[in-house]
Amino acid sequence: MQNQGVTLWFTGLSGAGKTTIAKQVEYELKVRKCAVEMLDGDIVRTHLSKGLGFSKEDRDTNIRRIGFVANLLSRNGVIAIVSAISPYRAVREEVRSHTDRFIEVFVNAPLETCESRDVKGLYAKARAGEIKQFTGIDDPYEEPVDPEVVCYTSEETIEESTAKVILTLERLGYVPKTHKQPTLRTYALHSQDYYI
Ligand code: ADX
Repeated sequence: MQNQGVTLWFTGLSGAGKTTIAKQVEYELKVRKCAVEMLDGDIVRTHLSKGLGFSKEDRDTNIRRIGFVANLLSRNGVIAIVSAISPYRAVREEVRSHTDRFIEVFVNAPLETCESRDVKGLYAKARAGEIKQFTGIDDPYEEPVDPEVVCYTSEETIEESTAKVILTLERLGYVPKTHKQPTLRTYALHSQDYYI
């Protein structure tokens, strides 16, 4: 086994870059032969959380379900990478308290930046009133108070944000240290999903 199990939880606004960084981290860890599994909010909502909406209650249920699965994985030696808006601090802290090893990564980008990226066209729909309860527009996002990592994606490159996460995993002893620089999948820079 190349790694210890840990839950790596990416939180932030839609379009902040959670999934982009999470995928790059996943790639780096797989190169190092670590056991990794990804739980992405958009995908989880088509399976485990199918039918849930975006009320506070449904979002909290979604986060509890993801947290439950992430804990099962991480206590069995897997690095469970979660990418979900997870806008409510209390339920994030609840999941943290039930998880043996938990790292919170705050993917921090100003709302204006996320809105100008508008990769999925959802901010425009939210502004037009076609989508209700959209995080950052007419629904809250509660920033983490003391996250282990903060990635400022409007100021940093993907490589820098990825390196911050990997170095934190190394510093905490969850993955072995390497002298190699993180390998960047260059195509990610040009792909459609740069900032989802
Ligand atoms: S969470 O709040 O429960 O953590 P989650 O990360 O699973 O949210 O899903 C967010 C994704 O759902 C967004 O990336 C976006 O594609 C889509 N979405 C649809 N409606 C909303 C909404 N009202 N608020 C936020 N995201 C929405």
